Amino acid sequence: MSASTVINPKGSASAPAGGGAGPFAAAALNSSVGAKVLVALTGVSLVTFLVFHMIGNLKVFSGPDAINAYAHFLKHDLGALIWIARAGLLGLFVLHLALALRLKARARAARPVPYAYPNSVQATPESRTMLMTGLVVLVFVLFHLAHYTFAWVHGAELPDGKVVSYLDLQDAKGRHDVYSMVVAGFTTPWLCAFYIVTQLLLFVHLRHGIQSAFQTLGLKNARFRAAISFLGVAVAGAILIGNLFIVCGVWAGLAPPLR
Ligand code: HEM
Repeated sequence: MSASTVINPKGSASAPAGGGAGPFAAAALNSSVGAKVLVALTGVSLVTFLVFHMIGNLKVFSGPDAINAYAHFLKHDLGALIWIARAGLLGLFVLHLALALRLKARARAARPVPYAYPNSVQATPESRTMLMTGLVVLVFVLFHLAHYTFAWVHGAELPDGKVVSYLDLQDAKGRHDVYSMVVAGFTTPWLCAFYIVTQLLLFVHLRHGIQSAFQTLGLKNARFRAAISFLGVAVAGAILIGNLFIVCGVWAGLAPPLR
């Protein structure tokens, strides 16, 4: 390394000479400000998915036909769109996680010695634990995909005692029986406990994440400060209440088992 090489712990400050969209995107990804904006935008998009996912899942209380028809529509009637949406969702998730981890590593590298008086730093318990709660959400998502998308967690017991994969279970109209799969999930105590704990930690992550995203985007100014803080609590709270209602409602028998 030459003596004149300058290492900027916050990434390169400007796009390399030459211009063009490629170098600009690379510089944006490499600078801390660009990465923060991308973490904020990907986070807001993921929260939007969570709101729609929760509303869709509440169909379990409208009965098997409603939720099975909805899942069938998403998987079979949207054609290539569903694969584009899934790829987009995965891309958003990976980008959000990778950039957040890199920002954290850079912040640590820039301040190897901790603050002498940590309590004087403007940070809440939620903001200090964003990395930890984010990693819990990652573990939850991996488990959740194994549970409901790949049906690896437990099988469906047929009346003759045979156990089959939930992916092979069909309703009377020949559609994937998502209703029975969800009901079986939330009538299993340890699965309910796992979902309840992880949804509470998801709430902690989202409550801080939502208002922090608006702050990064420059919208949490004196005028909108109170409204943005309220929005964080309201949106994260709605996702928590909706998801807990599904888990506890099914557990309490509001969506009775079919078989
Ligand atoms: C109690 C709350 C939840 C319930 C009942 C639920 C239910 C489901 C079900 C049944 C599926 C499979 C759908 C199908 O195969 O047709 C699914 C997929 C999925 N869920 Fe959830 N979910 C919940 C919460 C969450 C949360 C909090 C996240 C993210 C943090 C999440 C992320 C996903 C993803 C990424 C998929 C895969 C989507 C796809 O394959 O296209 N879910 N969920």
